[in-house]
Amino acid sequence: MTAVVIGASGLVGGALMRALAAAGQDVVGTAWTHPQPGLHVLDVRDAAAVRRCIEQHGAQVVYVPASLTNVDYCELHPDESRASNVTGVRNIVASGVRVVYFSSDYVFAGDHGPYRETDPVRPICVYGRHKVLAEQSIASDGLIIRTTVVYGSELQRKNFVYRLRSTLSEGRPLRVPVDQIGSPTYAPNLAEAAVALEQRGATGVYHVAGTERASRYEFAGAAAAVLGLDAALIQPVTTAELGQAAPRPLDAGMICDKAQAELRFPLIPYGAGLPLFGAELRREAGTAGGPPAGRTPARTMAGGPPAVPGGEPRAAGVSPVRRRA
Ligand SMILES: NC(=O)c1ccc[n+]([C@@H]2O[C@H](COP(=O)([O-])OP(=O)(O)OC[C@H]3O[C@@H](n4cnc5c(N)ncnc54)[C@H](OP(=O)(O)O)[C@@H]3O)[C@@H](O)[C@H]2O)c1
Repeated sequence: MTAVVIGASGLVGGALMRALAAAGQDVVGTAWTHPQPGLHVLDVRDAAAVRRCIEQHGAQVVYVPASLTNVDYCELHPDESRASNVTGVRNIVASGVRVVYFSSDYVFAGDHGPYRETDPVRPICVYGRHKVLAEQSIASDGLIIRTTVVYGSELQRKNFVYRLRSTLSEGRPLRVPVDQIGSPTYAPNLAEAAVALEQRGATGVYHVAGTERASRYEFAGAAAAVLGLDAALIQPVTTAELGQAAPRPLDAGMICDKAQAELRFPLIPYGAGLPLFGAELRREAGTAGGPPAGRTPARTMAGGPPAVPGGEPRAAGVSPVRRRA
């Protein structure tokens, strides 16, 4: 059985490629603006290219971590967000293949987390509204995995922990919100759970996240401790002080009992995931290119990647500030 991972050049997609390969599944991955050896280039907005890609590989299941994930960019460019985050997902669903779609706790308002699958959605920003519309397009045989605050090894090195490491290791302070609460999620744990749930034939919505809630500030402190960085450089601020374009669901995070009941291994807290990531980072430092992306030779599906800022680093809740004099 062949699986296609659309968005394999991202954080979750890269982890999915490794988890699927480890599970012995044939897997093909795609990238868009960050092409990598072994990944096909595909823009999900191109319906014909999406159909060709899925048919050509005889995919029985398509994992869709692909998304414009910079929530502030989405807030300021709602048409671009809709094209990739809603129309793009509909293009994939139209192929009729089973879809494993990755969604977010941004579908919630963030007024009383942590959230269960049965809680009503109430997005408060463009990105969240578009994730809800994409969820609504998933067919009844599809699987929707909502997750939050993902960290782990990735070639683009853009997730929160990489940004924290590069800022603090240069001796620069980092302003981190104390009032954004989530459930930090270790990408390999998320990917392994997604693959296991798909292979069990799960359908509908599942929350898959770390089992410990924390503010972004607490999580930053824990990451700094694990990586041996100077936590004194982490400056607590409120979200309002950061002046971000998109409103954030502040009191968020997830309850994952439903997924945990079906999994034969635990979803892990960040206290366990950060040391694993720390070990990955040490291994990365010993290699030139970071984590492996996949194992299929590259072929272009839809021409070259467009020169648009689709793959901008996500800036969720982090604001580097100038070096203090
Ligand atoms: N990371 C988190 O903290 C977090 C939290 C909650 C939910 N999620 C969800 O998890 C999923 C994966 O997140 P992530 O952190 O892995 O995101 P990411 O690292 O930003 O990766 C996004 C992926 O989507 C691809 N992509 C974007 N626009 C595309 C388009 N028009 N056509 C084809 N591919 C496109 C990107 O390709 P290029 O980079 O090659 O352009 C990249 O491979 C997303 O659905 C997100 O909503 C993530």
